[in-house]
Amino acid sequence: MGGRVHRERPFVLYNVAVTADGKVATVDGDSRVSGREDLVEVHRLRAEFDAVAVGVNTVLADDPMLNVRLVDGEDPIRVVFDSRCRTPADSRLVKTAGSIPTVIYCSDVAPEDRVRELEEAGVDVHRVGEERVDVAAALRHLAREYGVERLLLEGGPTLAWSFFKEGLVDEVRMAIAPVMVGGSEAPTALEGEGFSEVVDGVALELTSVEKLGRDVILRFKVGGDAGSLAEEHESARSRG
Ligand SMILES: NC(=O)c1ccc[n+]([C@@H]2O[C@H](COP(=O)([O-])OP(=O)(O)OC[C@H]3O[C@@H](n4cnc5c(N)ncnc54)[C@H](OP(=O)(O)O)[C@@H]3O)[C@@H](O)[C@H]2O)c1
Repeated sequence: MGGRVHRERPFVLYNVAVTADGKVATVDGDSRVSGREDLVEVHRLRAEFDAVAVGVNTVLADDPMLNVRLVDGEDPIRVVFDSRCRTPADSRLVKTAGSIPTVIYCSDVAPEDRVRELEEAGVDVHRVGEERVDVAAALRHLAREYGVERLLLEGGPTLAWSFFKEGLVDEVRMAIAPVMVGGSEAPTALEGEGFSEVVDGVALELTSVEKLGRDVILRFKVGGDAGSLAEEHESARSRG
């Protein structure tokens, strides 16, 4: 049964860089969090994956290329989750869509003229969902139509929340940078509405810890029982 799920949708790794206080960007949107060695490693990862995905706010904030530049390797398909087709025509992704495969998943609310403009620039645009993009359906579409077996989810945290909520993430790679930026409005590794109790959270199993340049890299498998984490805390507290 488990194997079947993987054939229907790609394996998904959420890669994220956070400050030591858990932020992926500052209150003003500065997301230059991790160091040079981590950036090189992320490019190496991209070259190992069939596709890399981001939410449209990350495109608007960072204007990323999402290609492989710092190492030798093939560019993955670039995927944007963008219900209303807000990805700008003059973004680097759209301007290079003629040479690097670029896919935008939007929904029924996307204006037809924006869809056409992006398609004319060389972007493959697909409507999947009524209001927001249906991420599970988009992943099945990526597997079926593009043969994507491995997807690198590069954020941001609002899109990542939808992936986690729907159980679509298999592993997490987190770079922790030796800096704290504070700010109650600064986004953390996972946004969205959040779970109200730890027992309902996404349990992670730590698989490796590594120092890379000035950062620490944690790797986790998604899975396990968040309930037992909460119980352990409860029983330690009652003994104390
Ligand atoms: N440090 C890091 O590793 C890292 C990585 C990436 C981003 N960032 C930072 O994170 C910030 C952006 O993150 P963000 O959380 O604001 O935005 P985001 O996750 O990049 O994009 C969220 C947007 O994606 C669209 N979307 C489409 N379908 C969705 C779905 N099913 N679920 C959720 N979203 C969906 C929504 O806009 P529509 O409703 O219009 O579709 C939503 O507002 C920026 O500051 C960026 O620099 C940091």
